[in-house]
Amino acid sequence: KLNTQELIHEINRLKKEKKAIILAHNYQRAEVQDIADFVGDSLELSRKAAKTKADIIVFCGVHFMAESAKIFSPDKKILLPVYDAICPMADMIDVAQLRLLKKEFPNIPVVCYINSSAEVKGESDICCTSSNAVNVVKSLDEDKVLFIPDRNLGSYVAKQIPEKEIVCWDGFCISHNRVRSDELDMVRKHRGKIKILVHPECSPDVVEKADFVGSTSQIIKYVSKADEKEFVIGTEMGILHSLEHQNPHKKFYLLSPSLICSNMKKTRLEDVYRALKDEIYEIKVDKDIMAAAKKSLDLMLKIS
Ligand code: 13P
Ligand code: SF4
Repeated sequence: KLNTQELIHEINRLKKEKKAIILAHNYQRAEVQDIADFVGDSLELSRKAAKTKADIIVFCGVHFMAESAKIFSPDKKILLPVYDAICPMADMIDVAQLRLLKKEFPNIPVVCYINSSAEVKGESDICCTSSNAVNVVKSLDEDKVLFIPDRNLGSYVAKQIPEKEIVCWDGFCISHNRVRSDELDMVRKHRGKIKILVHPECSPDVVEKADFVGSTSQIIKYVSKADEKEFVIGTEMGILHSLEHQNPHKKFYLLSPSLICSNMKKTRLEDVYRALKDEIYEIKVDKDIMAAAKKSLDLMLKIS
């Protein structure tokens, strides 16, 4: 069994030897973020995956993210270090359910949050992430839109674009959705005017009371520009690592103990090492599904 130093050394050695790059989401464990070549939100990671010249991408995140990387870089080997690191929200709608929904609302465009399967993306008109959802919906000519699978992000978008009617699917993030608005009230009571920054996957009553709503990287950028010295963070706790590292003189408090994503926490250094050594678990997507999903993802990249 290798110790931490040996693991880090071996990961770096294998990375060079195999021309691999490690991408990590902002929610990953601190030690995984530290070994990564790039850490970011879903949109930034998609862009990186589309651009990289590496032969292998080790994707430290959840399945739909690695799948998106495969769609953008079909000739590269995409590895997900833990095979069952999934996003439960992505499984809250499947392609059969989406087809039924489309039948119920014919000729209405479908906007699909990137937290979804490749098959569902392929059956949608355009994708979005939490950082560009408002712009993506605004870009559509139609005044009625179907938004899947996150009802909370959908409601947030609807509030920003009141002139459009947005029909949301009933999916949600099991971590963000657990945050209660009375937790926010308590923070306000005890910490006064402190800025509360939340992810749009939180429920509408939480989002409504927050000072800033944005993707993980938008929250990180907000903090780096703000003059305040203390913040309450309403998204998954993994983000605290970057925030604290980049802002050593600022203080951060987690809005709720619910803000932990067990799937994002599955990936450890041992898994990254094994992924590189044995080249597992390779993500494969059916060619036709990949082509259809790529259309929706490319349209999104064009807009954002
Ligand atoms: P971001 O795109 O904001 O990083 O969000 C991804 C995610 O899964 C949030 O729970
Ligand atoms: Fe999915 Fe929520 Fe985890 Fe993000 S935090 S990956 S939406 S379960």
